Amino acid sequence: MLTQSSAEVVTATLPAVRAHGEAITRRFYQRMFAAHPELLDLFNRGNQASGSQQAALAAAVVAYAEHLIGAGATPWGPVLDRIAHKHASLGITPAQYTVVGRHLLAAVGEVLGEAVTPSVALAWDEVYWLLAVELVAREARLYAAAGLTEGEPVWRPWRVTARRQETPDVVSFTVTPDDSGEVPTFVPGQYTSVAVDLGGGRGRQIRQYSLAGRPGAAHWRIAVKRLRGIDGAPDGQVSTFLHEHMTVGTTLQLSPPFGEVNAVAGDGPLLLVSAGIGLTPAMAALEHLAVTAPQRPVVLVHADRAGAAHALRGDLPRLHAALPNLRTRLWYEDTSDVALPGVAVEVTGGRVDPESIPLSPDAHVHLCGPLPFMNIVRGGLLRRGVPVERIAYEVFGPGMLRG
Ligand SMILES: Cc1cc2nc3c(=O)[nH]c(=O)nc-3n(C[C@H](O)[C@H](O)[C@H](O)COP(=O)(O)OP(=O)(O)OC[C@H]3O[C@@H](n4cnc5c(N)ncnc54)[C@H](O)[C@@H]3O)c2cc1C
Ligand code: HEM
Repeated sequence: MLTQSSAEVVTATLPAVRAHGEAITRRFYQRMFAAHPELLDLFNRGNQASGSQQAALAAAVVAYAEHLIGAGATPWGPVLDRIAHKHASLGITPAQYTVVGRHLLAAVGEVLGEAVTPSVALAWDEVYWLLAVELVAREARLYAAAGLTEGEPVWRPWRVTARRQETPDVVSFTVTPDDSGEVPTFVPGQYTSVAVDLGGGRGRQIRQYSLAGRPGAAHWRIAVKRLRGIDGAPDGQVSTFLHEHMTVGTTLQLSPPFGEVNAVAGDGPLLLVSAGIGLTPAMAALEHLAVTAPQRPVVLVHADRAGAAHALRGDLPRLHAALPNLRTRLWYEDTSDVALPGVAVEVTGGRVDPESIPLSPDAHVHLCGPLPFMNIVRGGLLRRGVPVERIAYEVFGPGMLRG
């Protein structure tokens, strides 16, 4: 709870902070990186360049302030969970909140200028620390649940034991702990953070990859799409590095599994909807159910450019054999190659039509793919009567769906 006087000040200054949110967070990152260049390796340089991280941080602080003064429409718990899981996968420490707080509040002062009187500064300091304390507490619980002691690094070396070119753009990697220790299990939908030293003076970078194999197996599997820069944009740093340098026998640093999204929620009908590389959580869900609940009715809907671009589809015959109540519905923009030996799948040309998705009224839904795709599918499912709380989704970048 904010103190009464701070609540009044926050209410009065929220419009200005909201209007300048991204300018504030942009200035915040400039200040913080100038004072702490070592933090450049922690943040995603691609997201910094696109501005999506600045937007995500500004939106989170503003939404939290709205929540504190009772003006917020955002359900707050899921937002905090998403941030805390992402932070935990990056190994964020409580001490770093002091650094972020100092530079964020200084940036508010710089951008809003004279409007930031001592009482305004005090009120926003209170907002920041209430939020920080909630995140630190959640992150501490996540670290403990992952078996980490206080301050223990999240990184652990894993060795690549198999590498498979799934499609021209996607490679899957099978990995086991290099220290021969236990392989942590996970919930389908969870991801690992991968930290790589890019070499050539480019520093270190961290990205998340959804675990695509079976929870409880003696190894993990991830599938990585190589991002090629379009219209002069650079190629994706980490995906390109993994494609070019990770071969059998090499090691990479991985975090424990984190992520708040459960791709197998409920125990009735399940609808998994994915597009492109967004199929990785759905594949973990199918691998998991094939062993734990093979009779569960599952509809798999997947959209891709073409059969040849559809990663991991070679696993579908095995999964169909293990899951007698699995129904697969594919949408390929190019239907010249739809062959999938031994599986009765339905393939349609063009883009996914949410109205034609086979839907049980009581299904739990998991979505993963580009944001515009998820917005269209989610909108269609909501119109068809699926309650909002039964639609889980994963965004492969900062941010969440709106509305
Ligand atoms: C929870 C989660 C799960 C994920 N699971 C998977 C998965 O299973 N498989 C998978 O392949 N990916 C997954 N991702 C995405 C993954 O984490 C990376 O974002 C992805 O691999 C791209 O990283 P990169 O370093 O190759 O690209 P980046 O270097 O981060 O670049 C990303 C994009 O930004 C553009 N860009 C970068 N710099 C600039 C610039 N200066 N100007 C203009 N444009 C620029 C690039 O061209 C590129 O298109 C997941 C993400 C999350 C958050
Ligand atoms: C109250 C304080 C903070 C808030 C509100 C906040 C908010 C956020 C949000 C909204 C995201 C994006 C989550 C997503 O949707 O993926 C994020 C990611 C991140 N945060 Fe924080 N954060 C805070 C503190 C910190 C601290 C102390 C650090 C460490 C210096 C940190 C480092 C990061 C990093 C490295 C990412 C991932 C960036 C990326 O992938 O581009 N954050 N944070």
